[in-house]
Amino acid sequence: MYENIDFNSIDLTQEPPVSEPERQYYFIAKCRQYVKEQEELAGHPLTADVVTFGCQMNARDSEKLSGILEQVGYTLSDSEEADFVIYNTCTVRDNANQRVYGRLGFCNSMKRKNPHKKIALCGCMMQEQNVIDKLKKSYRFVDLIFGTHNIFKFAELLCRMFESSGMIIDIWKDSDQIVEDLPVERKYPFKSGINIMFGCNNFCTYCIVPYVRGREKSRRPKEILQEIEKLADDGVVEIMLLGQNVNSYGKNLEDEISFAQLLQEVEKIDKIKRIRFMTSHPKDLSDELIEVMKNSDKICRHLHLPLQSGSTKILKAMNRRYTKEQYLELAAKIRREIPDISLTTDIMVGFPGETAEDVDDTIDVIRKVGFDNAFTFIYSVRTGTPAAAMEQVPEEEVHAGFDRVLEAVQETARKQVARLQGQTLTALVEEVNEQDASLVTGRLSNNTIVHFPGSADLIGQIVPVKLEECHGFYYTGHRVEETK
Ligand code: SAH
Ligand code: SF4
Ligand code: F3S
Repeated sequence: MYENIDFNSIDLTQEPPVSEPERQYYFIAKCRQYVKEQEELAGHPLTADVVTFGCQMNARDSEKLSGILEQVGYTLSDSEEADFVIYNTCTVRDNANQRVYGRLGFCNSMKRKNPHKKIALCGCMMQEQNVIDKLKKSYRFVDLIFGTHNIFKFAELLCRMFESSGMIIDIWKDSDQIVEDLPVERKYPFKSGINIMFGCNNFCTYCIVPYVRGREKSRRPKEILQEIEKLADDGVVEIMLLGQNVNSYGKNLEDEISFAQLLQEVEKIDKIKRIRFMTSHPKDLSDELIEVMKNSDKICRHLHLPLQSGSTKILKAMNRRYTKEQYLELAAKIRREIPDISLTTDIMVGFPGETAEDVDDTIDVIRKVGFDNAFTFIYSVRTGTPAAAMEQVPEEEVHAGFDRVLEAVQETARKQVARLQGQTLTALVEEVNEQDASLVTGRLSNNTIVHFPGSADLIGQIVPVKLEECHGFYYTGHRVEETK
C-alpha cells in the first residue's frame, strides 16, 4: 500500500524500476525534489489547481491527479492563479470542448505574469487527434498533455515536464493495463466514487466515449473490495461504483462475476452504509440486479437508466439495442418491484433522422415512466462516430423538440418529487447550506436534496429528516428522532 511507502528513502541514483506502481513511487520521490527547487526559486509554496470537466469518471480521475500533486509537494488550490493548473477534459459534446479552449486562453494570460506557472491538459479530449493538432499549432504555451490511458504515470510525466522546456505530449491509443495502489486525494471525506471498470464496448453511434476511453476493462473484485474497505476505514460511508456500463461488469474477467454479485460483496462491508452506482445500460439490466436492489438496505433507491430516445427507429439508428416497448417494460418492472425507487435518465434530442413524431415517442415514454429527473441534451456531432456521417436535423427543429422534451421532463419530475411530501427519510448530510449557514444540505437515498436546520458537525452523518415543504426539485424539512 502506498501509505506505507517512505518516499524519502527511495534511492534516486538508481535507474527507475520497470514495474508499476513502483516506477511511479520512484518518480513521486524525484518530483518532490523538483518541486522543492522550484519553490526556492519562486519564494513561495507551490500551489496546484485541478479543473474538472465531464462525468463522475473524470471527477474520480481528478482525485487521483490531486493525490499525486499533494504527494509531490504541491498545496492544492481552487484558483486558476495556481502555479500548476491541469484541465481534466471531457469531449462528450462540443460545448465541453469549447469551454476548455476558453479557459486555456484565460490561463495563458496569467502565465505571462507568473514565470513559474505550468499548464497541463489531460482527459478524454486529448484522445482526439484533431484536438492535439490544434493545441500543437495554436496553444504552444501548454507544458504537458496526456490522455486517459496513461493517467497512472502522471508523476513520471510531471518529472519530464520539469526536465524539459518544450511541450510534452504523451498519448496512448489504448491500454489493457490497470495500475492499482496510487495516491488519491478525495474531495469529500464521507463519500467516494470508485472505478469498477474502464472504457466502453457499446459504440452507440453518436458517442465518442468508446474512442477516447478504449475497450471495456473490469477491475478485479478483490482490488475493488480492498479499496472500499480502505475507504470505509478512512470515514467513507457512501460509495458510488463507477463505469460507463456497470451492468456488464465482470464479463471479461478470468473468474466471471456479475455486477449484482459484486454489489452483494460490497454490501458485506460493515462501515459502508450506502451504495450507489452509475451508469446502467438498459439492455444489460438483469432481473438478478433488480432482486439484489430490492432486498438490500444499503443500495440506494435510485437508478439512472439512460433512455436517449423513446423512438424505436431512432434507438435502432443509435445502436442502443432496445426498443421503446422494452424500455417501458423494464421501467415498469423496476417500479413494480421497488416502488420507492427514483428513476432518472439521459435524453438526447436532434439525433440524425429524428422527426417531430420521434420526439412525441420520447415524450410518451417520459410521461409513462414518470422520471424523477432527467438530463436533456441536444445532439452534438462527434468527429469519427457513425452518426456524424448521417444527415443532420435542422437547428430550429432540434430546438423546438428540445423545448417540448424539457417541459415534459420538468412536469413529471415535479410530480415525482412532490410524492415524498410529509415522509420521514434518512439523509446523508453533505455540507452547510451555501446560502443560509443555519441550514445543512442532505441527500436522500433516492438522490433528492433536502435542506434543514443543523450545523457542520452533522456533515457525513446519516440522519432522519421530515420532508416538510417541496420546492419543485428539492425539499426543506426538519431533523427528527426516529425513521419510518
Ligand atoms: N455510458 C452512459 C453515458 C455516458 S455519456 C450511457 O450509456 O448511458 C452521458 C450522456 O451524454 C449520454 O447518456 C448521452 O445522453 C449524452 N451524450 C453522449 N454523446 C452525446 C452526443 N454526441 N451529443 C449529445 N449528447 C450526448
Ligand atoms: Fe457512450 Fe453508449 Fe458507451 Fe454510454 S454505452 S458510453 S452512450 S457508447
Ligand atoms: Fe466526458 Fe470522458 Fe466522461 S468524454 S462524459 S469525461 S468519459
